[in-house]
Amino acid sequence: MQSSEIRQKFFEFFEARGHRVVPSSSLIPDDPSVLLTTAGMQQFKPYYTGDADSMTSVHPMLGKPLGSKNAVSIQKSFRTSDIDEVGDERHLTFFEMMGNFSFGGYFKEGAIKLAHEFLTSKEWMDLEISYVTIFQGKEDIGVPKDEESKEDIGVPKDEESKRIWQSLGIADIREEGMEDVFWGPTGSSGPCGPTTEIYCKNGAGQDIEVWNIVFNEFFFNGSREELLAGNSGKKLERLKTPGVDTGMGLERLVMVVQKTTTIFETDLFAPIHSFMRGNASRQEEMRIIADHVRAVTFLLADGVRPSNKERGYILRRLIRRAIIQWQQLGFSRHGLSNLIKGMMDQYGVFYEETKHNQGTVDHEFYVEAEKFDRTLKTGAKEFFDRFPDMKIKEGAFGFHQIKRISGDDAFYFHQSYGLTLDVIKDFAKKGGHIVEVDEKEFESALERHREISRAGSQSKFGGHGLYMKTGEVTIRDESEVEKVTRLHTATHLMHAALRAVLGPEVRQDGSDITVERTRFDFRFGRKVTPDELKKVEDWVNEAVEKDLTVKWEEMSYEEAIARGALGFFHEKYPVRVKVYTMFDPDTNEVYSKELCGGPHVAHTNEVGRFRIVKEESSSAGVRRIRGVVE
Ligand code: SER
Repeated sequence: MQSSEIRQKFFEFFEARGHRVVPSSSLIPDDPSVLLTTAGMQQFKPYYTGDADSMTSVHPMLGKPLGSKNAVSIQKSFRTSDIDEVGDERHLTFFEMMGNFSFGGYFKEGAIKLAHEFLTSKEWMDLEISYVTIFQGKEDIGVPKDEESKEDIGVPKDEESKRIWQSLGIADIREEGMEDVFWGPTGSSGPCGPTTEIYCKNGAGQDIEVWNIVFNEFFFNGSREELLAGNSGKKLERLKTPGVDTGMGLERLVMVVQKTTTIFETDLFAPIHSFMRGNASRQEEMRIIADHVRAVTFLLADGVRPSNKERGYILRRLIRRAIIQWQQLGFSRHGLSNLIKGMMDQYGVFYEETKHNQGTVDHEFYVEAEKFDRTLKTGAKEFFDRFPDMKIKEGAFGFHQIKRISGDDAFYFHQSYGLTLDVIKDFAKKGGHIVEVDEKEFESALERHREISRAGSQSKFGGHGLYMKTGEVTIRDESEVEKVTRLHTATHLMHAALRAVLGPEVRQDGSDITVERTRFDFRFGRKVTPDELKKVEDWVNEAVEKDLTVKWEEMSYEEAIARGALGFFHEKYPVRVKVYTMFDPDTNEVYSKELCGGPHVAHTNEVGRFRIVKEESSSAGVRRIRGVVE
C-alpha cells in the first residue's frame, strides 16, 4: 500500500466515525513557549484546558467551529530531542504525525477500539499488534482526590485500558512508568496524562512503537521536566474537559505496512532512494541527509530562515550537517538542491506551501549554503596547511598509515570553524590514512577551555559565562552563545578602536555582555564626541569587513604581558592564560591582542555590523558605551 493511500484511509476512517478533518498547522507554533510544533495536539490545547469549545469557538484555520467533539489531522511536526538519534532505522527530526482527538467525546474505550480497528481490520491496515503498554501507576505524585477532601492520591495503574485490550484479544500487555507512558505537558504548561502505546513488527521482525494514545486527564502548570523531577511542589489538576490525543508517526506506520526495515526505505523518501542504493555502505550518512533535507524543505517552506537564533539556528545546523555529509560522499552541492526540489515535488501534493514556495526555498538554501561554503573552505584550507601530509595521498588507497591528530588541534578546528569531531576525522581520512583523533585530549582541551573561561568570566574583563552554565549547552543556549560570542569579539575591536581614536591612554575598566548588547567601561576624562564615536564605529566595521583572523594561544601570564597583550593589571589571573589576537592574514598587521577567556568568532566578518547605541558617564573618570551587532 502506498503512503498516499494510507493518508487517505486514515482520514476516511475517522471522518466516517464523526471526526472533523483539520489541516496541519504551521511548524511555527502559536505557543511562544515552544520553538517548533512537536505534536498534533498542540493546536487543540485550548479545547482541553477549557479556553475554547470545539462546538462553538471559531477554529483559526477553518474559520468556523469544528462543530464536533472529535478531530483528525496529519500534523507537520519537528522534534529537536531526536536530532542525535537520526541515522538509525527509525528516528527523524521532521515527521508527519497522524492523530485523532476527542475533546470531551469518547474516552478510553472509544479510543482503543478505534485504533484497534484501524490497525488490524483487513479493510484498513491489516496489521498484527505485537504488544501494547499501559501505565503502571504512580503513588507519589500530587493529585488532589476530589474537591472536598483535597487529599492527595497518585495516578493509579490503568486497569481500565488493560481490560479493554484484553477484551480485544491482546494478550501481551506490558506495564511502564512516567518516562514512557505518561505524556506531556508540551511547553511551559498544559494537558497531560497516562498513555497506552501500540507496537507492530517492521519488515525485519522488530517491534516498533507506532501509535501513542494519550488520555488527557490532567493539567500541569509547569514543564514536563518539572513534572518528572517531582520536586516543584506543583500538583496535577483534573482537566475541565478530559479527552483523547493520539499520535502515530506516518513514517513508522508506512514502514510497518510496507514491511521495510527502516523508515528511509518507504516511499516517503523516494527522491533519495537511488542515492541510498548507490551508497549502500554509507547508510548512516544517507539517512542523516534524507532526514535533514526533508526537514529543511518544510522549515523553509513554513517561513523559518537560517540565523543564529532559536529555530533559525536549528535550521542552520541542519543545512550545515546535510551539506557536510553530502559533500563527504563526494557529491556536488547542486545535487543537494535537486534533492530538495524532489522533496518539494513529492510533498507538494499534500502540502501546498512546499509547492508554492519552491523558488524561495531554493533561493534561501542556496544563500545559506554559499555562506557555509566559505567558512568550510577557510577551515579546510587551514586544516590542510597544518596537516599537509594528510593531503598528499588524496585518492590513494590500499596503503594506510595511521595518523594521529592531537586533541588540542582538533579542538582548535572545532572552536574556530565549528567543525565537529566527525568532520575533522573525515577531512583527515581524505588522505587515505587511518586517522585517530585523540578524543580524550579533545575532551580535556574542552574542559580546560571552560576552566580558563570560568576564571575569565569571574574577572571583569573576561568570558561571557554562557558556556559554563552547564557542560552541555542546549540548542537554545547555543544560539545565544553565538550571539554573545559575536558581541564579545566586537568588544575587543571596540577597545582597540577607542585606543586608536582617543589615544592609548584609554584603559578598559570592565565590560558586561548580554545576548542583546555589550557594555564597555573605560577610563577617560571627558565625554566622547559624536564625531569620535562615529570614528570608533567605522574603525570596528572596517576591521569586521577586512575579515581579520582571530586566533588564540595559551601561555603563561608573564609571557602574555611581555608580548604586549592588554589586560587588567589589578586582576588576579590564573597561571596559564589565553591571549586572543586579531590580525590581517595578508599583512599580519595586528589589530587587537588581549588576555581573555574567550570564546570569540574565528573570523571577524562573522561579527556583523557594529553600532554604538549610547555613551555616558559611568563614574568619575570612567565612560560607558553600549554597542550592538546586527
Ligand atoms: N501527543 C502525543 C504524542 O505526541 C500523542 O499525540 O506522542
